[in-house]
Amino acid sequence: MKIDIVSVFPEYFEVLNLSLLGKAQEKGLVEVTAHNLRDWTHDVHHSVDDTPVGGGAGMVMKPEVWSECLDELLHLEPTTVTCDSTADADDTASADAAEPAESATEIAANADTVPATDRPVLIFPNPSAPLFTQQDATELSHANHLLFGCGRYEGYDARIPQYYRAQGVDVREYSIGDYVLNGGEVAVSVMLEAITRLLPGFMGNAASIVEESYTGENALLEHRQYTKPADWRGIKVPDVLLSGDHAKVDRFRRDEALAKTNKLRPDLIEALDCSKLDKADRKTLMALGWEVSGTHPRQR
Ligand code: ADE
Repeated sequence: MKIDIVSVFPEYFEVLNLSLLGKAQEKGLVEVTAHNLRDWTHDVHHSVDDTPVGGGAGMVMKPEVWSECLDELLHLEPTTVTCDSTADADDTASADAAEPAESATEIAANADTVPATDRPVLIFPNPSAPLFTQQDATELSHANHLLFGCGRYEGYDARIPQYYRAQGVDVREYSIGDYVLNGGEVAVSVMLEAITRLLPGFMGNAASIVEESYTGENALLEHRQYTKPADWRGIKVPDVLLSGDHAKVDRFRRDEALAKTNKLRPDLIEALDCSKLDKADRKTLMALGWEVSGTHPRQR
């Protein structure tokens, strides 16, 4: 996988040479290049931003500098496009500007969101975009080329993603959470880590990914984990985990995952497909106050 990152602080991404991602680069699984957006400026101050049209606080990143940079990295010729500047204002995560905005669940269920492996995906972190999920990480882990653009200040000119969508580029905008950061660099690091760890050969133990929170079609928060000693400072590992009875251990963990998800993320319980729940799952959910006779669980 080839990964380009454009930022006014490319040094920030030196940390990507450490740890598992550093090893993955050494092994040739990923090739990460961080570019300085200012290299595409022509003025003495290397300015990348300007005041917002219509007034308001802060500065907005200029489209001309970004387009010179992105055209070069995407091997595109500059052109002019005809599009309505309000058309896809709420269609930030979708690759297709003509489609109406979708909910996160609809986007996840839509096979069109899976990137074509031969097409680069241009990704802008943005606090006003749909939330980046494990599903997005999984989809993006199949792409061959990801290009991340880090915004700073009050963000980037809205015509940048619009223009590249009109050019047929798979453009996505994602928020990593309901809070505002100083720029996209941290968000890109978060997304990159979530994506690259899913690449075949990246993790030592691929099975651990299958069991993780948010993974799979019936995603639950993961059960708690313990290691030795069995009794530490007066707190004991649950007896069943020491029993050696794998079926019992699996059931205990599954029930714990259901109970934890019920408490912390009932929205994930509501999204479960009842036809994929076994008898014991249904019993546990009923005991937790859920009705499981329909397509999805409903709170009683
Ligand atoms: N840039 C600033 N805040 C952000 C957030 N929460 N997610 C993605 N990009 C951002």
